[in-house]
Amino acid sequence: MYEQLYETLKAHGQEHVLRWWQELSDAGRGRLARQIAQIDWDMLGQVHAQAQTARGEIAPIDALSLEEIAPRREEFFASGRGAVRAGKVACVLLAGGQGTRLGSDAPKGTFDIGVTRHLYIFEQLICNLQDVVRQCGAYVPLYIMTSEANDAATRAFFAEHAFFGYPQEEVAFFCQEMAPAVSPEGKLLLSAKDSLALSPNGNGGWYSSLVRAGLAKRAQARGVEWFNVFAVDNVLQRMADPVFVGATIASGRTTGAKFVRKAYPEERVGVLCLEDGRPNVIEYYELDERMANLRDGAGRLVYACGVTLNYLFRADVLRAIAHARLPVHVVHKKVPCLDENGVLVDPDTENGCKFETLILDMVRCAGSCLPFEVEREREFAPIKNRTGKDSVETARALLGQNGVKL
Ligand code: UTP
Repeated sequence: MYEQLYETLKAHGQEHVLRWWQELSDAGRGRLARQIAQIDWDMLGQVHAQAQTARGEIAPIDALSLEEIAPRREEFFASGRGAVRAGKVACVLLAGGQGTRLGSDAPKGTFDIGVTRHLYIFEQLICNLQDVVRQCGAYVPLYIMTSEANDAATRAFFAEHAFFGYPQEEVAFFCQEMAPAVSPEGKLLLSAKDSLALSPNGNGGWYSSLVRAGLAKRAQARGVEWFNVFAVDNVLQRMADPVFVGATIASGRTTGAKFVRKAYPEERVGVLCLEDGRPNVIEYYELDERMANLRDGAGRLVYACGVTLNYLFRADVLRAIAHARLPVHVVHKKVPCLDENGVLVDPDTENGCKFETLILDMVRCAGSCLPFEVEREREFAPIKNRTGKDSVETARALLGQNGVKL
């Protein structure tokens, strides 16, 4: 086994992975061999290719503003409610991330944001979903994406809390895949002598993982036509929101994206735009000064659709693009790994590169998107950090403003 692994690794300049082979048990050797067999070498090669990708032609995207939504709210609501009642809308909660910025090893959704009582992130999200259930008079199927690292803990947490009152038969878990992390020079990192440093492969893999778990078929069989996919960390978000569903259906577009209006030109938020005629997200650092400051006739910023990671996808389009290969993004993060002496080191600064596919590339593949504005103070309270911007502190303040008892 050693010779074969050595040859494979040597061909890619990664022989160091076997440095401690002689010390490993049979089980350890088996584990490492399985991980090596699963490496996507093409993807690893992108660690250097990344910087060269140039952007296409950027243009503003036609969005639905709060002012445009208000007079049509009833109409959108009626149509969206009909879709939810007919079982055509399912939710997908993206909970496979590592939440490194929050600095807890437990799944992010198990984080307790309560002050005088327990209030877990998952609990608040279920509570928001129950609002829709009450409005529409029907339960919404909920698919929860986990990763190998947090799957067992997430399932156990929901079971322990009796699914926070949501019917268990409406909830299904599925696991995303892992990808190896590398040093900035492209060398594979090890988390133990018998294991590569693996991390979840990004939120762009959610649909292929749903398919692999057999859940996409099950959803199709029960008549699901729309998937509302959202991040675990926005505790104010409305999911399966009938108004959003109705508006996206009425627009005839194949995806919808809830956005908050960018408050000022320098705000550090990715914005929805068109790139070579297809919907995409342009990061704040990619917007030049002219674009960032561009205003329309009413004096409002033109590139202002700040993404909230709450998307609606039409199921038939997901099936059609299921085989498209999404671009792999290289993300610089802190990766605990073994040093030269085989000692596990928890770095203070970014020391590694992870490979991720992103959900926004699925929106681009789907070809059309309705950006749908939501009120920031009522629907956007992401928890990325413990303190400061987008933190437990800011989310608590916003929840309080919206009448949630903490
Ligand atoms: P983030 O980009 O905020 O990443 O994820 P994260 O892993 O949660 O947090 P940091 O960057 O390490 O601090 C946005 C959403 O996508 C999900 C996350 O769970 C979150 O809901 N996600 C991210 C996945 O489900 N899988 C992934 O591999 C990455």
